[in-house]
Amino acid sequence: MAWVIVNGKFINRTEAKVDIEDRGYQFGDGVYEVIRVYNGVMFTAKEHMDRFSRSADNIGIKLPYTQEQLRNLLDQLIDKNNLRLGIIYLQITRGTAPRNHAFPAANIIPNLVAYTKELEIPTATLHSGVKAVLTEDIRWLRCDIKSLNLLGNSLAKQKAVEHGCYEAIQHRGEVITEGSSSNILLVKDGVVITHPSNQLILKGITKDVILELCAEHRIPVEERSFTIRELEQADELFLTSTTSEVTPIVAVNARQVGRGVPGPLTRRLQSLFKQRIEAQCGSL
Ligand code: PDD
Repeated sequence: MAWVIVNGKFINRTEAKVDIEDRGYQFGDGVYEVIRVYNGVMFTAKEHMDRFSRSADNIGIKLPYTQEQLRNLLDQLIDKNNLRLGIIYLQITRGTAPRNHAFPAANIIPNLVAYTKELEIPTATLHSGVKAVLTEDIRWLRCDIKSLNLLGNSLAKQKAVEHGCYEAIQHRGEVITEGSSSNILLVKDGVVITHPSNQLILKGITKDVILELCAEHRIPVEERSFTIRELEQADELFLTSTTSEVTPIVAVNARQVGRGVPGPLTRRLQSLFKQRIEAQCGSL
């Protein structure tokens, strides 16, 4: 039986229900997190709790738990479901109220749900790399909030799928922002370049771990806007996310990146990232 959390209670997955007037369901009025679990241990749990609090705070939803209480609930969920390798999906909405665009009265109770899913490490794509397609970034201007409004991201990912690609790389005019569900980093002359974490992208936790590892190992980094042209001339390109880890991108719009195979710095960062996971969660 799969257990899920609904507003602090552990219940059977098949008994979990959403009210048709839940504001997440009607307005996308809520925020979420996807957290990786290796060996039954959450990876970068604190960073995810911090971002969840920040996202909720940014849209004026008050979390009903302290970070410690929430972490404790999620640890129990992992145990109850015997999850060794997978993810936790965690979401909170403003709550259930008669439909009205404006926020309901202050005493509305938020709806918080969490569930787990088994998920393997994507060994094949980590090894061989993936193809990507470019697409205009049509999303709103607060992409730093991990909001439930994912229509722009969904449309972008669908375009990738229709082009036989793994990811869609979004751009605002000439400037590359991020993937539909990942951050994008390029390597040029030994320097790792990635869009700064401002309101145009999600401050990816995987990306931040990579930037920390670069700092520790004296790999030069530039957090700055870069253009489609720079992307096309990159030596190496990769994407980062909780589920895709550090995935090499070997072609964009059917044109090969560098030599068309995962590059040496990408390989090195993959291996440093794996060591970081093992330091937190035990050997893989
Ligand atoms: N996606 N940018 C966007 C738009 C994302 O949705 C994600 C994550 C990232 C990478 O963030 P992180 O490294 O913290 O996972 C960047 C999650 C996994 C998802 O929606 O499934």
